[in-house]
Amino acid sequence: MAARKKIAIIGAGNIGGEAAMLAARRELGDVILLDIPEKEMFAQGKALDIMQTGALDGFDGKVTGTSNYADLKGSDVVIVTAGFPRKPGMSRDDLLSINLKIIRAVAEGIKSNAPNAFVIVISNPLDAMVYEMKKVTGFPRERVVGMAGVLDSARFQCFVAEACGVSTKEVTTLVLGGHGDTMVPCLSYCTVNGIPVNQLLPKEKLDAIVTRTAGGGGEIVKLMGTSAYYAPAAGSIAIAESFLKGQSRLLACAAYLDGEYGYKDLYMGVPVIIGLNGVEKVISIKLSDDEKKALDKSAEAVRELIEASKKL
Ligand code: NAI
Ligand code: 2OP
Repeated sequence: MAARKKIAIIGAGNIGGEAAMLAARRELGDVILLDIPEKEMFAQGKALDIMQTGALDGFDGKVTGTSNYADLKGSDVVIVTAGFPRKPGMSRDDLLSINLKIIRAVAEGIKSNAPNAFVIVISNPLDAMVYEMKKVTGFPRERVVGMAGVLDSARFQCFVAEACGVSTKEVTTLVLGGHGDTMVPCLSYCTVNGIPVNQLLPKEKLDAIVTRTAGGGGEIVKLMGTSAYYAPAAGSIAIAESFLKGQSRLLACAAYLDGEYGYKDLYMGVPVIIGLNGVEKVISIKLSDDEKKALDKSAEAVRELIEASKKL
């Protein structure tokens, strides 16, 4: 008998709660929200709140809260948000040692209880956490991705749309590299309904948008005192939905690189196709000399982070 799809979300905090709400609202399947034992009741409360929203908004599906990894059994997708968010003044990299311990425990739980799942990691510092997830689970690279490029590209898209006075729907953007200050918003692939953006905005404006995009996470941390959660949750659900429905969307995700773009044994943001098999393909694109130089710098920053985590 065909079973409903099952989406597990690890970490029932700000991003986890919103991702659960989106997954339920879009009726992607049944949703499990898992947190630490001290927060099991909190997870159960959020799950109940979301189910009751379904009664008002007209969506069906089961949402449950738990702290028991055995409940992950049969999950098609696991979205990992467990870990601490950045506080003002804290860099993504400061989070490394705290969140590394958490990711290792979560990865063991996934490996033992959901060995066939497609895993989407959100926890920061993203590129090091998703690398660790693949290492500990031993899953193939098709089944472990990091969510960041989708979010960074959405920020870039918003800023360009605002500057051009057009709908975000008209704007296409691509952000490559690590999810940190060295990320590479690619102007050469930014278009407004097919029109290269440099025909619409002056260089100084575009440079300012690129800088604001790279600092987009920090801008929100400064405003809210914690990191963004609506757009990060939406980013993870876009990836999950493309996988579950076989949409074959081309999205910027942190993917394991095995020689693509000249990098080996590294997770970094690149364009990939997400379909029924997870990461169906890493897309190699031409970059300008400046973009390739910037990507090399970003890869170096990610490599340092991964090397640092190997020592912890
Ligand atoms: P939050 O603090 O609201 O929620 C995190 C949840 O994880 C908490 O409920 C906590 O109890 C839980 N948790 C901690 N250890 C756990 C464990 N061992 N097992 C299960 N659950 C555990 O944080 P928020 O805002 O949801 O952010 C989550 C992570 O996502 C942070 O690391 C943040 O930096 C990162 N983030 C990543 C983005 C990206 O683009 N990749 C964007 C924004 C945030
Ligand atoms: C963000 O980009 C801080 O990674 C987090 O919002």
